[in-house]
Amino acid sequence: MAYSQNKAVAITVCWLILYLTIAEGKYYPTWESLDARPLPSWYDEAKIGIFIHWGVFSVPSYGSEWFWYAWKGNPPAQDVIEFMKQNYPPNFTYGDFASMYTTEFFNPDQWADLFNASGARYVVMTSKHHEGFTNWPSSHSFNWNSMAVGPKKDLVGMLADSIRNRTNIRFGLYHSLFEWFNPLLLEDYANSFTTDLFSSGKSMPELYEIVNQYKPEIVWSDGDWYGPAEYWKSQEFLAWLYNDSPVKDTVVTNDRWGWGCTCHHGGYFTCSDRYNPGTLQTRKWENAFTIDKYSWGYVRNSPLENYLTMDNITQIIAETISCGGNILINVGPTKDGMIDPILEERLRQMGDWLRVNGEAIYETTPWVYQNDSYTPNVWYTSKKDGFRTKVYAIVLEWPETLTLYLAYTTPTRATTVTLLGYSSLIEWRLPASHSSGIELLMPVIPLNMMPCQWAWVFLLENLL
Ligand SMILES: *[C@@H]1O[C@H](CO)[C@@H](O)[C@H](O)[C@H]1NC(C)=O
Ligand SMILES: *[C@@H]1O[C@H](CO)[C@@H](O)[C@H](O)[C@H]1NC(C)=O
Ligand SMILES: *[C@@H]1O[C@H](CO)[C@@H](O)[C@H](O)[C@H]1NC(C)=O
Ligand SMILES: *[C@@H]1O[C@H](CO)[C@@H](O)[C@H](O)[C@H]1NC(C)=O
Ligand SMILES: *[C@@H]1O[C@H](CO)[C@@H](O)[C@H](O)[C@H]1NC(C)=O
Repeated sequence: MAYSQNKAVAITVCWLILYLTIAEGKYYPTWESLDARPLPSWYDEAKIGIFIHWGVFSVPSYGSEWFWYAWKGNPPAQDVIEFMKQNYPPNFTYGDFASMYTTEFFNPDQWADLFNASGARYVVMTSKHHEGFTNWPSSHSFNWNSMAVGPKKDLVGMLADSIRNRTNIRFGLYHSLFEWFNPLLLEDYANSFTTDLFSSGKSMPELYEIVNQYKPEIVWSDGDWYGPAEYWKSQEFLAWLYNDSPVKDTVVTNDRWGWGCTCHHGGYFTCSDRYNPGTLQTRKWENAFTIDKYSWGYVRNSPLENYLTMDNITQIIAETISCGGNILINVGPTKDGMIDPILEERLRQMGDWLRVNGEAIYETTPWVYQNDSYTPNVWYTSKKDGFRTKVYAIVLEWPETLTLYLAYTTPTRATTVTLLGYSSLIEWRLPASHSSGIELLMPVIPLNMMPCQWAWVFLLENLL
């Protein structure tokens, strides 16, 4: 009896909070309230973002951005210990790398123009990774920041300015809550989080500072797995972000806000690195992945085979967008401020592809079906067209036969099929050997008139 009364009270309180949330447009520091905030629509429409992992780890640029932890963490990686022994004096510390983080070729206007040419609609830059070094002159970090040592510049501010001055791309910031070796955090941990020296003294003040100073429209949180959301004070921060911050109406966040949050709470879901479920998801999600398959930070000795090809990238784009996700494609700049030509080429090629096929990507919604049941490597997106639906079939491999069978599309007399970037209509017929679907007669196109090189998009209109 008492139990069910309590339960009834709890349910009433939940509904009351939800009601107040909707009625006042005000958010409370509870997951019930914060999770109910609708995602600002620009984010789903944008589809394509660029992730930038840049920091002191870009100096050794060996192994991955987890270099420091690989060297001094538990257990250390033998190859990294050996690398340091071979190449640096015995008294060399990770901190000594900071002065070599020179960024002398960093030209934020060039980066902005490259990102714009890639077709990306938002950019997310590491303000601070797990090493704790801040790419802005943080007032909570006396000497472990980009103004005090190394670049001697406000890298975050410079890129934000260039992007905003030159493009319509939205600017976002990645921020790691935890830092591998911060003594304050280690002390809180040793105290089983009964103290909050680090979260109150460093990580939270930093988050408020970057939001107030740079007005990021994405706050991409990470490094949350070290403690509970209550320790990080994530809910208080998000309530402030959504209610009172300078970006309250447009800001979007992810789901990495403390133990148990990932894939459950926050804004959109990231679930895991390179998350690509292959099926339609109920909540908005993002596939953050790297062009260098094994590292987010730049790695000097990555061979060509470590880099995704454009076939790989168009496949990931098709799979992700058709299942309701966004992509966040990562590049790791060098310590001198360059985006390696192989990465630049991939981004420009993605832009070439999107200039032809962007209609099937930006501002689309998932269709009833995500991939074809009969023909492999065909993924669908859709757009409303009056009371009908336009269907885009993204074909990852040009068929070896003269026809392409699509199982789920039911044609009418009025159905038209076009190949994006190609001028003639595509002929189609009812399939001879299937009771439903449509059969496209593949056009024979001279090589120099192919609309693109990697994945082709057929637009089907006036379907049943
Ligand atoms: C390491 O020690 C050498 C002398 O053994 C000294 O010249 C050098 O400055 C030291 N380097 C650092 C980074 O402390
Ligand atoms: C950004 O990209 C758009 C679309 O490709 C293009 O029209 C525009 O000129 C570009 N702007 C800059 C600054 O490169
Ligand atoms: C961008 O514009 C602001 C003013 O709107 C100006 O102060 C700043 O110098 C510009 N930055 C760049 C990198 O062009
Ligand atoms: C990339 O594509 C190649 C073939 O082009 C394939 O062998 C490889 O498995 C793909 N890798 C990823 C990560 O998709
Ligand atoms: C595509 O769809 C079919 C069902 O229609 C499913 O069995 C299959 O696993 C899906 N995914 C891929 C990658 O083909």
